This record gives sequence, structure tokens and C-alpha cells, in this order.
Amino acid sequence: MDADDSMTGERVALVTGASRGIGAGIAQQLLDRGLRVAGTYRTGGELVEKLAAVHPDRVLPVPFDLAAPEGAGAAIEQVTGQWGRLDTLVLNAAVWHGGKLAKIDLDDWWQVVEANLRSTAALVQAAIPWLTRGASPSPGVVLVGSAVGSVGFPGDTAYASAKAAAVGFARSLAKELAPKGVRVNVLAPGFVDTDMTSAIPDAARARIADATLLGRFGTVEEIARAAVFLAEDATFCTGAVLAADGGWTL
Ligand SMILES: NC(=O)c1ccc[n+]([C@@H]2O[C@H](COP(=O)([O-])OP(=O)(O)OC[C@H]3O[C@@H](n4cnc5c(N)ncnc54)[C@H](OP(=O)(O)O)[C@@H]3O)[C@@H](O)[C@H]2O)c1
Repeated sequence: MDADDSMTGERVALVTGASRGIGAGIAQQLLDRGLRVAGTYRTGGELVEKLAAVHPDRVLPVPFDLAAPEGAGAAIEQVTGQWGRLDTLVLNAAVWHGGKLAKIDLDDWWQVVEANLRSTAALVQAAIPWLTRGASPSPGVVLVGSAVGSVGFPGDTAYASAKAAAVGFARSLAKELAPKGVRVNVLAPGFVDTDMTSAIPDAARARIADATLLGRFGTVEEIARAAVFLAEDATFCTGAVLAADGGWTL
């Protein structure tokens, strides 16, 4: 790649968990906006490959397991080695494992917190030299948090701890990176129709929808639009937490 290409070429985003659900929606909308997208997966490599086949040279499948954060450097290098730049990091993938605290094995509990937080720190740390090198008009990091991180949910002490921590992490990082022009924001979805919520029994789904001002679960497209707003349009937002929860937390 020519040295100047990184300053003038198409912008590059890395989206974690791009194989399905919200991450796949975000990847698609960033592609629609003209970015090149590296999409990480753990088990769904063939789904990211399928997207790559539709967008030749504009999608890069990248294996990355949140439970193996030592792979973060290699994941970032795969992207920058291919395209010579990184403008946007969307940390969407998450490990969820539920269980009330009275019963959950503490090792399982800690694995949820550690996998979510350590992978976040490791990916951002590896990406910082690229985000701060001045190639992008408004580089940014978007962390996909959760409404559960602020209001809690029974059975979610581990997941909610990680999601609450993402807010403190993002606000501290926003202060660290603002001098370099890098924005760091959090999206806090409410309940969304994806594989993550597909096992919720009908009666509980109805109760959640009832408790949501807009009376329903969100769609992948709606949440992806909010993430892309933070990544692409919200050029004067940093350290912000955008609720996309249909009013569930009000
Ligand atoms: N759905 C909701 O109601 C909801 C609400 C609030 C917040 N969120 C947040 O939104 C984000 C996306 O959730 P979703 O509902 O779209 O989830 P999903 O449909 O279950 O998809 C999860 C994605 O994360 C990846 N992933 C899971 N475990 C991983 C691991 N150990 N290492 C690497 N990647 C892993 C999966 O990769 P593979 O498929 O390749 O294994 C998949 O791409 C998460 O941060 C979640 O906490 C979701």
C-alpha cells in the first residue's frame, strides 16, 4: 500500500461480533455508509465470509475470542496490515451467562466480567496507535453496553457489572483520547430481538414489552442505526451514553 493511501482511502471500521445480531447490522450499515469493515467472529466465520463475498475487498473476517484477549494485537494487526488504517472501533460482541448470585458459580461469574472487560481494554489498547495517528476526520470508539448496566436485571449481576464498567471505562478513555481527537461513546440498548434474547419465555417477553414505553422489543436495524450515529455522525459527542431502549429505563 502506498504511504498516502491511509490518509486518503476509504475509512476502516472494526466491528466485534459481526457474524450475527446487532454486530451484523452495524457492519451492514457501515458498509452502506462507504466504510470498509473488518468483522470479528468466534464461531460464525462463514457468516462474515458470506458478507465478504457480497462486498469483495470491503469486508475482512477476523477471528477473535473475547475469552482470549491476548489475540487482540493480532486482530488489530490483521486489519491494519490489510488496509493500513483504522478509524472506528465498535466493541459489540459480549459474553452473556446468567444466574442469580445465590446460585451462580463464582468462576463462571468472573469469566463473564473478565471476558467482556479485558477484551475491551485489550482491543482498544492495540487500536490506540491507529486511532490517534490523524488519518481520520473524527475517529471513534463505540462500546455496546446495555440498559441492564444502569438499572440491573435479576440473574445478571455479572453481565450488568461488565456493562456498568463499560461506562466508567468509556468516560475515562474519552478523557485520555480527547486531546488526540478520538471520541469514545457508549450505546445502551434495551431489549432487542436477537439470539441473545430468543430464549426468554413468552410471558417474560410480554412483561418486558409492557414495561417498555414503546411497547415492544427493538430491532437490530434500529440499534445499529444508533450505533452508526455514534460512530459516524455524533462528531461533538464524547463520553456520552445513548439509551436505545424504547423507554424501558424510564
Ligand atoms: N439483544 C439484546 O437484547 C441486547 C440488549 C442490550 C445490549 N445488548 C448487547 O448488544 C451486543 C450484541 O448482542 P446481540 O444481541 O446481537 O448478541 P448475539 O445475537 O447473541 O450475537 C453475539 C455476537 O457476539 C459474538 N460473541 C459471543 N461470544 C463471543 C466470544 N466469547 N468471543 C467473541 N465473540 C463472541 C458472537 O460471535 P459468533 O456468532 O461468531 O460466535 C456474535 O457475533 C452485546 O454487547 C450485548 O450485550 C444486547
